Amino acid sequence: MISTTYILNIFLLFVLFVRAQPFNWLSLAMSATSNYAPDSVANAMDKKQYQLLCQRLPGLNPIQKVLCEQHPLTIPSIGRSAKESVYECQMQFKFDRWNCSERYEVYQNLSNAGFTFRDLLGKTLRSGNRESAFISAITSAGIVHAVTRGCSSGNLTECGCSPEPSRQRYIDVIDNNLDSLQANSQVRSSSFAWGGCSDDTTFAVKFARDFLDKFEYEQFRKTNDTRYLMNAITQNMRRQCRCHGVSGSCELKTCWLQMPKFSEVGEMLKKRYSHFAVQVAKRSKRRLRRKERSERQIPLRGNEMAYIYRSPSYCERNDSMGILGTHNRECNPTSLGADSCDLLCCGRGYNTREEVRTVRCQCKFVWCCHVKCKECTEIVQIHTCK
Ligand SMILES: *[C@@H]1O[C@H](CO)[C@@H](O)[C@H](O)[C@H]1NC(C)=O
Ligand SMILES: *[C@@H]1O[C@H](CO)[C@@H](O)[C@H](O)[C@H]1NC(C)=O
Ligand SMILES: *[C@@H]1O[C@H](CO)[C@@H](O)[C@H](O)[C@H]1NC(C)=O
Ligand SMILES: *[C@@H]1O[C@H](CO)[C@@H](O)[C@H](O)[C@H]1NC(C)=O
Ligand SMILES: *[C@@H]1O[C@H](CO)[C@@H](O)[C@H](O)[C@H]1NC(C)=O
Repeated sequence: MISTTYILNIFLLFVLFVRAQPFNWLSLAMSATSNYAPDSVANAMDKKQYQLLCQRLPGLNPIQKVLCEQHPLTIPSIGRSAKESVYECQMQFKFDRWNCSERYEVYQNLSNAGFTFRDLLGKTLRSGNRESAFISAITSAGIVHAVTRGCSSGNLTECGCSPEPSRQRYIDVIDNNLDSLQANSQVRSSSFAWGGCSDDTTFAVKFARDFLDKFEYEQFRKTNDTRYLMNAITQNMRRQCRCHGVSGSCELKTCWLQMPKFSEVGEMLKKRYSHFAVQVAKRSKRRLRRKERSERQIPLRGNEMAYIYRSPSYCERNDSMGILGTHNRECNPTSLGADSCDLLCCGRGYNTREEVRTVRCQCKFVWCCHVKCKECTEIVQIHTCK
């Protein structure tokens, strides 16, 4: 059973910042998958090939390189997860002052066979604030998601999908194919058999923990009070069912477990970031403690995100902190949310200009089966922060 504690190890990341060239596996997001995929699976036993490949990968710390050699087939999934996580982060923060982008360093190392280390989101990741917590959470969840997909699809040799997922926790999802509420309640109450291929996160969670935490753990002899960032997935497995039998009579029902979509995971984590982020004391001997004195005794809960330092305003560009600032960001003068010109422009005001845009319009459905549209030009007002 996975613990519900939701805790970050960010002080350790902060300590690592002392190095000239920091480790940052998110750099993999910027290389083509072909760069780190093995030449062919026929060579799967060729250890030497993988050793070379893994040593050359940019940004990995020594433990991650060892894991790469031990489980080379997971690396394409890890690279994919880095891309997906950064993309999802940018979707979730599209309208915020911090939009999950930063000015990052590029380290060209010629002896590294052309691999370039890009310190993607590294400055934010190491700053120990709420945004660092979000990046850690979404990238950890991203590894679990991508590796589990690799397991279910049969791409990995270490794991597969589970025919009997009864040990995992799950939520029920109502089958969309059933058209009446009556049928739904029938589904809920009637018995069922596990069938097909259920997502099994066991291997991925262990792998993600080793990949993300082990190095810091060994470097700093931390207590085992480390982070469990993957619970957004493991506690939100969905049970999906299909009815068989005469016209939806549901005499026979088979069910399987599915992970939530990664965009749903992103939404969940954004909610935690917005409503359940907790500042913790910088020095803590054994476990993380809330900074707020009156709440010290309350342990952190499973849906809380821990951070140490307060965030900057992200209003003004600051290269040493990787902050882009909000000058020239597009804003919405009628919004009451984060994308309102008031909030996004930090009180500096905004400029308005007119732009001619070409859009598809007067669309008609043409039998069968496509949609025909005209092209219209329209004048739209664009508001950008001063
Ligand atoms: C370049 O990469 C090699 C091998 O990974 C490493 O030994 C060396 O320190 C790197 N050089 C710089 C300037 O980072
Ligand atoms: C499985 O591997 C194939 C070939 O490398 C790749 O195209 C596919 O996207 C992979 N699927 C998953 C879920 O990782
Ligand atoms: C802490 O975790 C490490 C690595 O997972 C494990 O080997 C060790 O036994 C654990 N220690 C305690 C006290 O639980
Ligand atoms: C960037 O932020 C750092 C730390 O807050 C501060 O010391 C520095 O003056 C800032 N630089 C600029 C150009 O604002
Ligand atoms: C984030 O905002 C900056 C301007 O502050 C912009 O250059 C960048 O494209 C934005 N990133 C995304 C992903 O929209």
